[in-house]
Amino acid sequence: MKKQFLLLAMAGMVSLSSWAQDVVLENAKFHAGDDASWAGVNVDESSWRDIKNSATWTSQGVKIENGFGWYRYHVNILKSMLEKSDLKETVDFVLGGVDDADETYLNGQLIGKTGRFPSDEKGYASQWSTKRNYRVKANSSLIKWDADNVLAVRVYNAGDPGGMFEGPIRVRVPNTIDNLSINISEGTDGKGVVQSFSTLKSTMQASKSGVFSVKVVDPETGETLGEKSMKVSVNEKKGKTIAVPYDNHRMVRIVSTFTESKSGLSCTTQYIPKYILTPAAPAEPRFNTAPIYGVRPGSPVHFRFGVSGEKPMKFSAADLPAGLTLNPDNGALSGSIEKAGSYTFTVKARNAKGEQSQRFTIRCGSKIALTPPMGWNSWNCWGLSVTQDKVISSAKALIDKGLADYGYCYMNIDDGWEAKERNADGTIAVNEKFPSMKDLGDWLHSEGLKFGIYSSPGDLTCGGYLGSIDHELQDAESYNSWGIDYLKYDWCGYGRKHRTEPDNQTVASYVRPYLLMERCLRQQPRDIFYSLCQYGMADVWKWGEAVDANSWRTTGDITDTWASLYHIGFELQPELYPYAKPGHWNDPDMLIVGKVGWSNNLRDSRLTPDEQYTHISLWTLLASNMLIGCDIAQMDEFTVALLCNNEVNAVNQDILGKQAKRDVEDGSIQVWSRPLSDGSYAVGIFNVGGTDARVDFKKYFPQLGIKSLKSVRDLWRQQDLSTSDVSYFIPTHGVKYLKVTF
Ligand code: GLA
Repeated sequence: MKKQFLLLAMAGMVSLSSWAQDVVLENAKFHAGDDASWAGVNVDESSWRDIKNSATWTSQGVKIENGFGWYRYHVNILKSMLEKSDLKETVDFVLGGVDDADETYLNGQLIGKTGRFPSDEKGYASQWSTKRNYRVKANSSLIKWDADNVLAVRVYNAGDPGGMFEGPIRVRVPNTIDNLSINISEGTDGKGVVQSFSTLKSTMQASKSGVFSVKVVDPETGETLGEKSMKVSVNEKKGKTIAVPYDNHRMVRIVSTFTESKSGLSCTTQYIPKYILTPAAPAEPRFNTAPIYGVRPGSPVHFRFGVSGEKPMKFSAADLPAGLTLNPDNGALSGSIEKAGSYTFTVKARNAKGEQSQRFTIRCGSKIALTPPMGWNSWNCWGLSVTQDKVISSAKALIDKGLADYGYCYMNIDDGWEAKERNADGTIAVNEKFPSMKDLGDWLHSEGLKFGIYSSPGDLTCGGYLGSIDHELQDAESYNSWGIDYLKYDWCGYGRKHRTEPDNQTVASYVRPYLLMERCLRQQPRDIFYSLCQYGMADVWKWGEAVDANSWRTTGDITDTWASLYHIGFELQPELYPYAKPGHWNDPDMLIVGKVGWSNNLRDSRLTPDEQYTHISLWTLLASNMLIGCDIAQMDEFTVALLCNNEVNAVNQDILGKQAKRDVEDGSIQVWSRPLSDGSYAVGIFNVGGTDARVDFKKYFPQLGIKSLKSVRDLWRQQDLSTSDVSYFIPTHGVKYLKVTF
């Protein structure tokens, strides 16, 4: 029997290959320090401690900074491995990453080295993430078959943590097929037709031939929708790529297999390409945003009507409240209203294809953020490398790619804008990356967009920049003078002060810095959305509203993996629904779709397409802040469609403002629902398990209080579905997102 291993090669891609039998090493004997004789066979290990190679030595209680440690393994190299391999050429010692540099010895002889030690001629170099695969010729006298061999790994670590961490070590005699790999990507051909590209590569000198086939498969029915197959021959210099088109408006899998002729062995890689569910918007004007907006009396109004459709478009309103003007070209509303009250009027949008109007209400009173904020924040893409130009380029793309037509309006600068020191008068200064906050704010407002910024109640922000401590009022005044509409106020450096406070066990001690800034913000003659960021400490959702916060982060930082999304979304949010309401929202952190990277180096989100549908569906159900975390200038068609589905976003922006509750947890199936202002319910049926599933929605009717269904609509596809056949295919980590009435 051949062993099969599952390798998760990258987001959406799974490789399956038939490996030769291998020996697995998880535990070693370990000694701190450095002694050349430890490479040898006969070493007294009685004083050596046990250690695992799956976690750093630091995490196992060993503290070696800027020093050496040795791992020794005893391994019986089985002759049967040799017999089972069709190649019989090498014995491979696969170590994975080692923090930071290593030399590896077999029975006293050096068989491989990665990274450099400080004593090396060129000096120290870390290669902690490089995967090590050390090869010894199978006919080498170094190998003792069916007997004890000693594998000794000398590791140098600089800083903290250190050691082997990617265990287990695998010792194997590879087959031909183990030296071949298939990588799948997506793109377009010269004519713009969507294609999958499957590339077969070999690490062997000798050419190997066989059949390389690529299939486009419907995961629900198993049906093959497209296929290409050919005889190929590859070696280390010559790979082979097969391009196969597919329909990127439906869920498919690309399954690529190579079967080597001589051995009959094969390797397979599966890939889930991005697929677009949101139908294209009509060419006629269509209003996509909530018909309501909250502003305080006398505060400047900055609002842009979100209307999709062919451009140019003209906006008009006959009965605007006194004090407001509407820009006819971009739909930006500006001015201010002096008197509290509810003002309803009709706005019209017209283009070459038609005209549409919407009744719209401005509630002028004490509340803002009547629906969750939508916009962008610089952190998940640019991290501390954010610049004014990068903000402008994302803002322009927000407009050009149509995201502003769906209500995305906040353009928020996260950490990294502050100067090293305050001005002589104590006011906050910006660093060289931000030539003029005032100009930036004015320009954003002229487009009907809003302007956000970031600070900390402590001395320093999380990124080590200046915080607002002892300068709260001055900072709030600066924000006002720049035209700031949103402040993210991040605990970070305040932790140091908090630790020294005598009452730091009390909720009051957590509330204090946030209340202080709230008072300073409220003294400004403008509305500033107040976003608390303290990762959910002291059950912030219970007192966020009391400090008049408009939202509060409920968790630590999100990252673009399923583990992070699952933990934050499905494990930490279920109990928080009672706390969300118009003006005050739970914030499970920013979106992780599109190109992210927390630095100058951006990459595609590591979430699969289905995980991204789950992410947006859950965040809209949760009435969460919808802050895009990627570079909008580089946003692809898939991500635009994901973020600009008017029916999906309408759930997030529903004016009832009720956050979803988890009604069902049935193994890997979860059902979340929230009531909407039109009497219907938004329902997300999630498959959080590792395999595709078929779900009979009827089974959960009792938990949802459904006696008989009146209507079912697929929100992503914007299609009405049958009320009697409610059985759905839901891919692994995917969702069926419905709007139902009953
Ligand atoms: C914290 C926050 C992040 C981001 C960074 C900036 O980690 O939780 O969202 O603002 O600080 O340094």
